[in-house]
Amino acid sequence: MLNSALQYAQTHRDDQLHELKDFLSIPSISALPEHKADMQRAAKWLADHFTSIGLHNAAVRPTPGHSVVTAEWLEAGPEKPTVLIYGHYDVQPVDPIELWHTDPFQAEIKGDYLYGRGTSDDKGQLFIHLKAVEAYLKSNGRLPVNVKFIVEGEEEIGGPNLDAFVIANKAALKADVAVISDTAMLGIGRPSLVYGLRGLCYIQVEVTGPARDLHSGQYGGAVYNPLQALCEMIASLKDRFGRITVPGFYDKVVPLDEAERARIAGVPFNLTDFLAETGVSAAWGEDGYTIKERVTARPTLEINGIWGGFQGEGPKTVLPSKAGAKISCRLVANQDHLEIADILQRHLKQIAPPYVTVETKRLHGGHGALINVNSKYMRAAADVLKQVFGSEPVYEREGGSIPIVATFQTELGIDSVMLGFGLPDDGLHSPNERFYLPNFYGGIETAIKFLSAISG
Ligand code: BES
Ligand code: MN
Ligand code: MN
Repeated sequence: MLNSALQYAQTHRDDQLHELKDFLSIPSISALPEHKADMQRAAKWLADHFTSIGLHNAAVRPTPGHSVVTAEWLEAGPEKPTVLIYGHYDVQPVDPIELWHTDPFQAEIKGDYLYGRGTSDDKGQLFIHLKAVEAYLKSNGRLPVNVKFIVEGEEEIGGPNLDAFVIANKAALKADVAVISDTAMLGIGRPSLVYGLRGLCYIQVEVTGPARDLHSGQYGGAVYNPLQALCEMIASLKDRFGRITVPGFYDKVVPLDEAERARIAGVPFNLTDFLAETGVSAAWGEDGYTIKERVTARPTLEINGIWGGFQGEGPKTVLPSKAGAKISCRLVANQDHLEIADILQRHLKQIAPPYVTVETKRLHGGHGALINVNSKYMRAAADVLKQVFGSEPVYEREGGSIPIVATFQTELGIDSVMLGFGLPDDGLHSPNERFYLPNFYGGIETAIKFLSAISG
């Protein structure tokens, strides 16, 4: 069964690429209301594709937001494990569009890379699993294990609807393990297995001073400028050692023990590459922690955007009525994103000067997760990655967030195996996002071998 599936995948590479390009051409940007119809089109495309590769019960399942797409194949029998494969069909907005060298929704091959929005995050990586399943079903008429797919359309907006969907469909989603391809390897030929993800807490703050924008000559000097207030408030959120000063913020953070620090230190890291990737002249961060620890195992607080006052060209002597900012924190075990949102919102109100009023709201959030690296599924994944990519995978924590991993743990009682096929410089969320094609094909081979390896 394994060999014919592998051979099928090998001989259908042109089709795989062609179909992926078709999927990528649908601008399924979940954040932008004007793409609502494209979101529906992408969900439908996926459900149809599930059916065409031989999966059963493919369906577009409405939620209060963007739909979830599910499909399954459960004929392997009750003695075989059931794998829940997760991915997301939504993508990030493309702006700044002028920095793209190709049309983000007309995927183009240049050298070994496929360029386009969603190539790596996550349509291209998700598609790997469809093609692995297809290879079995088309060559053998069956799979070595039971498979359920759950693909969401709100990952990039931290949508709340998937959690509710999982909770409402617990029985139907029952599985032994989840598999997710939505992370990156360390580099070409250097696979990794992610065992940690950070959580996220995202809020917005708005500071109001005068009832309307004022002439800064008439009133400047006698009215507290809300932009000034906001900047002072924000500047006070961290000290000069890079520590967050919000009381209670670190209370539940599980300290890094020596074993964990040693494990993180063992993940290859190259400062020169880091500087080149980011374009900064020097790294910065919380005192007492390595760069790798700062970006994977320590919580952060970042200003994602700030506004207020006059933004047009040329001068305007104005004292703005309002100022605002978006602030998000990456969280680690055992921080609770709802609790951190409360703490932060309360703190911002408390430190505001009495001359302004402060409104805050929570935009979204998700819990972080830590995965047991010793499960039989993780061991099988490690074996297969080594076979396909030629070296042992490195166990690493990821600084980004995939909130469903924690939900699968708490609601379904299962861990996720994160088989990531991206590369660090894929440009996720950035212009010129790309996917390394040998990883696409290697990913299909890995997924095929993984399903066989865990079939027992
Ligand atoms: N695929 C990413 C998560 C990720 C980021 C993996 C970087 C590997 C490296 C995912 O699509 C993502 O962007 N997640 C968001 C989640 C948020 C919107 C709740 C994130 O991390 O910002
Ligand atoms: Mn993703
Ligand atoms: Mn993403």
